[in-house]
Amino acid sequence: MNLTLKIWRQKGPKEKGQIVDYKVTDISEHMSFLEMMDVLNESLVAKDEDPIAFDHDCREGICGTCSLHINGEPHGPDRGITTCQLHMRMFNDGDTIYIEPWRAKAFPIIKDLIVDRTAFERIQQAGAFISVNTSGNTQDANSLPIPKHDADLSMDAAACIGCGACVASCKNSSAMLFVGAKVSQFALLPQGKIEAKERVLNMVKQMDEEGFGNCTNTGACEIECPKDISLENIARMNREFLKASL
Ligand code: SF4
Ligand code: FES
Repeated sequence: MNLTLKIWRQKGPKEKGQIVDYKVTDISEHMSFLEMMDVLNESLVAKDEDPIAFDHDCREGICGTCSLHINGEPHGPDRGITTCQLHMRMFNDGDTIYIEPWRAKAFPIIKDLIVDRTAFERIQQAGAFISVNTSGNTQDANSLPIPKHDADLSMDAAACIGCGACVASCKNSSAMLFVGAKVSQFALLPQGKIEAKERVLNMVKQMDEEGFGNCTNTGACEIECPKDISLENIARMNREFLKASL
């Protein structure tokens, strides 16, 4: 496949960015999207040009670091996958592909396609944990039976990898799908009850302080989420918030 790539280049957080055109040739349809980017970067390095900075780590849909806006969609045109799991067979020979970073005030651009997502880490630090006794006399897991339905819903919420696609897809740059998932994974389990009130109040407060917008039930986040996190988690977070505020 031969492709035209229109890629956002920005030297640093305070520099002005712009779309720059690149051509790539002989791209296999079996390559992943990031392998295609590697091919482009190798050609730039060979010409002594600055390679394009983009985030990646596991390249298997686990770590949540890859974060490209491809033709206007976070993680590209496929569903239920991350950018690193996207394959070039989703595109056609001769296509023009726009590649941009996540766009949100709370995710400032560091360089090219890399954004600063430490706002998510600060939200996690505000409450996404439980107090457990790790001094050697930890409670036996079987002493706390959990209904299968609750355990399944908790596991579904815990599948969130913190990639930020929900924010990038939202017209309000809302992080409520992410925060809803992180609140829900604990709210559904007995282990999460102890700090439940502080957790939801502190995480929502941090979310607001970071500059994320509010949810207006558009649902773009749920569609673009690579882990199929359900909007129900936002509703659960709102209920937890209301209970904790009374
Ligand atoms: S809710 Fe989905 S889109 Fe948002 S951070 Fe988690 S995995 Fe990514
Ligand atoms: S590089 Fe880890 S999820 Fe894509």
